[in-house]
Order: sequence, then C-alpha cells, then structure tokens
Amino acid sequence: MTRPINLFEYEELAKQHLEPMALDYYRSGAGDEITLRENRLAINRYRLRPKMLVDVSRRDLTTTILGQSLAIPIAIAPMAFQCLAHPEGELATAEAAANSGVVMVLSTMSTKSLEAVAAKKNSTSQWFQLYIHRDRALTQALVQRAEEAGYSALCLTVDAPMLGNRECDRRNQFTLPKTLELANLASMRDLKIPKTTEESGLFTYFTQQIDPSLTWKDLEWLQSIATLPVLVKGILRGDDALKAYEYGAKGIIVSNHGGRQLDGAIATFDALPEIVGTVGDKIDILVDGGIRRGTDILKALALGAKAVLVGRPILWGLAAEGAKGVAHVLELLKEELDLAMALSGCASIKDIDPSWLTNSPKYK
Ligand code: GLV
Repeated sequence: MTRPINLFEYEELAKQHLEPMALDYYRSGAGDEITLRENRLAINRYRLRPKMLVDVSRRDLTTTILGQSLAIPIAIAPMAFQCLAHPEGELATAEAAANSGVVMVLSTMSTKSLEAVAAKKNSTSQWFQLYIHRDRALTQALVQRAEEAGYSALCLTVDAPMLGNRECDRRNQFTLPKTLELANLASMRDLKIPKTTEESGLFTYFTQQIDPSLTWKDLEWLQSIATLPVLVKGILRGDDALKAYEYGAKGIIVSNHGGRQLDGAIATFDALPEIVGTVGDKIDILVDGGIRRGTDILKALALGAKAVLVGRPILWGLAAEGAKGVAHVLELLKEELDLAMALSGCASIKDIDPSWLTNSPKYK
C-alpha cells in the first residue's frame, strides 16, 4: 500500500502489522458495538454552514487548554499497552506528540514507564491518566511520580468502575505477552495482567484492582493529594458536568471510552451540547470518540469543545510506522482541519462558534 492519505487508510495498513489479539483489543467496543458506531454516526449527522468571502489567507490553529498552549486543538487519548502496536510503544507516541505540538495523555496502564515517557517531552505538555486503584497508597504514589516527572495535568477516568464487556477480548482471553509489563505498576506492587481461561485478563485486573466505590468525594480526595489540575474523563451528562465543576475539576472530557464501556451509551457529539450549555463558560471541555477527519474537529469546536482527543488512529499510525506514523496521522488531521477552516471561512480557532453547524442547539 502506498502511504495512507487519511486515517481510515491507516487503519487498513495497521491491520497488516498487528497480532490478532492486539487488533481486536484496540479496534473493538463493548457488547454489540452500538456506541462505537454511534460516535461516528453522530458526528456525521451535523452539517457545516460555511461562510464566504472571509480572508483565510492565514489560518491560526493554535489554542490553549488549562492555560497550556497547543499547536493544534488535539490531544492524544490515553490508551493502554502501546507496545502491543510497536516495540517503542508510548515512547514513540510521546516523541511524535512533542514534535507535533499536541498533548499526549499517558495511560496508567502503559507499557513504558511514566518517567521514560516524560523524558521525551519538549515544551509541549503531557498529561497523566489515572485509574484509582483499591490500593490508595499505590494511587497516591503514582500521582506523586507523575508530578515529579513533570506531567502538567491529571485525567481521572470515571467511566470504568468495572471494565466493559468486550467480547473479542473475552474470546481471546486477552493478556499481555511475557515480554511486556505494566511499566508503572509492576515496579511498585508487582501487578500483572492475569492469565485467565474464561475472561479477558484486563477485565479480571479491573475487578481485582480498580476501586468500584469511587464517588465525587474521591475527586476531592484526589485534589487534596495532588497539586496538578484534574480533568474528569468520561462525563456524558450536564448534571455530572456541573458536579465535576463544583467538586473542583479544571476540565471535562466528554467521552464514552471509545464505545468500550457501556454499550448503548449516548454518542459523545450528542452529549456535548448539554454539557457545553451547563459548564462551557466555566471550564474547558474536550471531547473524544470517532474523530477521524479535520471536519470532525471543526464540528467539535463549533459545538463548544476546546479540543478533541484522538485515540485509535494514533495506534494505527504507531503500528504502521512507529513515531513517524503517529506524526503523520497528526499531520493529516492538521492539514484537513486547516483546509476545512479555509473552506468554511474561518481564519482562527477562536472564531469558531455554533453558527457553523446545522442542528447545533444554538442555531435552529
Ligand atoms: C482501558 O482503559 C481500555 O479501554 O482498554
């Protein structure tokens, strides 16, 4: 195959590079994959309303989130076990993120240590995604390590008190090969993804290790032990967004975990307007789920998100070509967003508003 010219072609290319168990783990969603599909369908239900005769000879794609500057309004979503895609795993992703000026969110469940990933940072921020483990001392130590390593925000994932029902992983008895480890956790508590005969090892790990009793009080607890700003990832309702704000979160990531948790959950682009309407003037809102095109990013921003997170396509780029592939995926999105802005009569990210969309709540 010649070099991909869009993210869908990267997915096809990646399939040639990935072991079946890894491909299933990355690609699949929970249950019947209704939410996985619906994320894309919801994006495609919006139509753009381009403005004409605007001077777009220069376009400004820069933005700021939590006061941190980004070259383009994109962050790399936290994704576990990236060494399944490429031997350099999260290190390659971090290198591409830093060179492309996008935030990388490193997963708690990474296969390279958070310190090694932090060493790839340049002036672009990195954030750390946190799963609160039952072992609070372990969780606290992880937070402390992330702060010492120079991460500039924490993303607390709140949509996974248990892991979703991912049937491919169950069938495959998903686990990590012997050569890979939970790089942040193994050194502290010798934690491993177990080998199971009837279940995904990751499902079992969550059941054993992740704290399903979390409530809003734990968001307070996290902020009492952390100095970094906390974003709450996995919010799908306006009332929860308001609570996140009231409990001190500095940002919200509207997410259904890429359709991997509650199947049948609302698509993120359908949830976004209510959340923006509730707290959009108070805190930064990001969205993920099915972003594949520059026009998808333009739509997210028109709905009031400050930036998007991109997940699976990063893994496709990583599997195909390591850091070069990830950088190319980001470059393709940047070029597409740039062109979409030019053709929409939009010279700067800060100019984008709901009037650019049909069926946006503020324009009917
Ligand atoms: C982990 O968070 C996953 O979605 O597999």
